[in-house]
Amino acid sequence: MTDLFSGNEPPQTGREVLAGGAVLLRGFALPHDKALIAAIDAVAAISPFRNMQTPRGFTMSVAMTNCGAAGWVSDGRGYRYASRDPETGSPWPAMPEALRGLAESAATQGGYPDFHPDVCLINRYAPGAKLSLHQDKDEREFTHPIVSVSLGLPASFQFGGLRRDDPIRRHALRHGDVVVWGGPSRLFHHGILPLKEGTHPELGRIRLNLTFRRAL
Ligand code: SIN
Ligand code: FE2
Repeated sequence: MTDLFSGNEPPQTGREVLAGGAVLLRGFALPHDKALIAAIDAVAAISPFRNMQTPRGFTMSVAMTNCGAAGWVSDGRGYRYASRDPETGSPWPAMPEALRGLAESAATQGGYPDFHPDVCLINRYAPGAKLSLHQDKDEREFTHPIVSVSLGLPASFQFGGLRRDDPIRRHALRHGDVVVWGGPSRLFHHGILPLKEGTHPELGRIRLNLTFRRAL
């Protein structure tokens, strides 16, 4: 197996502008990785990861759970935010302070000092899992940015434009990287290419992604 962590990666710091309103903060979450992983484990102990059904009846390859005031769900009725976890019948776990704090400081760093997320979708990818090109548009309004935190195995993030057929660029997202997009790029299309095989020192054969939004 190829070693993805051979020390040949570029240094994980700095800020890359992806588009108007969109920045990639390299390594921003690295100092907090263990606290974030512990918080995710605590959420998943209450509302476990599950592979949801798409409205067309396909099973998503990405396993998901949520924390916060509502959770993003998909089933035969469509996509929406639900205040209860349909699997447990209970409210989603509260958003751990470690997660909220990281999201707010990343948003501030990205130019959005007034961001206070009320929901956090947690995506879990195993090798082969992918997320097709989509827009995040199930939120009530689009005035607030999206903060997306990557942990574990690296992924290839596709970032396009407002139109589905706008040109798409790929950006490698590694453990600790954070992408913030809002303003003119809030509704830009994005996705994750099929995850490559690998083993991460902290998470093994897994990539985790936290997506913070103001949804309600
Ligand atoms: C998402 O679009 O909800 C997640 C993107 C990612 O996994 O980086
Ligand atoms: Fe998304």
